[in-house]
Amino acid sequence: MERTKILVTGGAGYIGSHAVVELYEAGFQPVIIDNFSNSRESALRGIEEILGVKVPLHRIDCNDAEALRAVFAEEGSLHGVIHFAASKAVGESMQKPLEYYQNNVGSLLTLLQVMREFGVEALVFSSSCTVYGVPDALPVTEQTPTKKANSPYGATKQMCEDILRDVANAPDNTLRTILLRYFNPIGAHASAKIGELPLGVPQNLIPYVTQTAAGMREQLTINGNTYDTPDGTNIRDYVHVVDLAKAHVVAVQRLLDQKGETVETFNVGTGRGNSVLEVVQAFERATGQQLNYKIGPARPGDVPAIYADVTKSVETLGFRTSASLEEALASSWKWQLALKG
Ligand code: UFG
Repeated sequence: MERTKILVTGGAGYIGSHAVVELYEAGFQPVIIDNFSNSRESALRGIEEILGVKVPLHRIDCNDAEALRAVFAEEGSLHGVIHFAASKAVGESMQKPLEYYQNNVGSLLTLLQVMREFGVEALVFSSSCTVYGVPDALPVTEQTPTKKANSPYGATKQMCEDILRDVANAPDNTLRTILLRYFNPIGAHASAKIGELPLGVPQNLIPYVTQTAAGMREQLTINGNTYDTPDGTNIRDYVHVVDLAKAHVVAVQRLLDQKGETVETFNVGTGRGNSVLEVVQAFERATGQQLNYKIGPARPGDVPAIYADVTKSVETLGFRTSASLEEALASSWKWQLALKG
């Protein structure tokens, strides 16, 4: 039987590459678009080694409408799109706001235009818990009001959500959209053939932790321990990237089955909050490594604590994460060792 084709923009990236694997294993035919601005060819080799087949790749930029049209035309029957391709570094977005708005908001507009031209009516969009800003109450549900973003990156995610809701609510709309609000993705595929590939000094916690344990960094600095949390360090909801990838398969299937509203939003997290110190301790337990760390000043812009209420994704989407924090961290460590070797 012919596989149902799903276009995956940013399919060579961290979350995208894991989603490509899960889509294929669930019986879909992923088709990758990537411009390799923040991803590497090695992800494609990893995917091929895991699946035993080559996944079609188009090396184009989502801002390039003509190139997108050519892909839609060449591929023929695309049944849906998962749009991962975006710039994602909070700090960088403060330095390069115009690039972020162009690359994240501009590319969505171009993609939506081309999808409409070709009659492709199912879209899963990568959103972020960053849209909640500093929440008044925890955990955050999908009804928790969004707050003004404190970075251009966060603003692009809010704008993209607004655009998709406006499109969905237009009278002649035929597009069905699921917005997935990711919490903090960590971990790597169990095979250690794909994972996160941070360029330069990692800004995110887990790659910094694994690079420190691997001896590539001297010491982890914990960004502040005087927050209003039980141990004073920031609390986040760390979700295994393979669980997160599986949420996309469920979302795509829901769109293709034409279930639910024309636009739906789901949190994708574990529902657990863990502090930075808890992550360090869990990493040490999971890997047997001692981590060299110190407490430093708070990082400007950090939300003190956020984690997901996952009731809606469990009850409506039928999706629940399965990996523990330790399992996720062990997979990050295995990936780090594979990278080194
Ligand atoms: N942290 C440290 N030391 C480090 C790096 C991070 O203590 O060297 C801390 C941070 O201060 C924070 C926690 O670890 O408390 C997690 O930080 P990350 O940078 O890994 O993740 P963030 O929660 O800051 O950011 C993530 C995504 C963003 C997204 C944001 C939404 O990376 O894309 O969640 O809240 F916008």
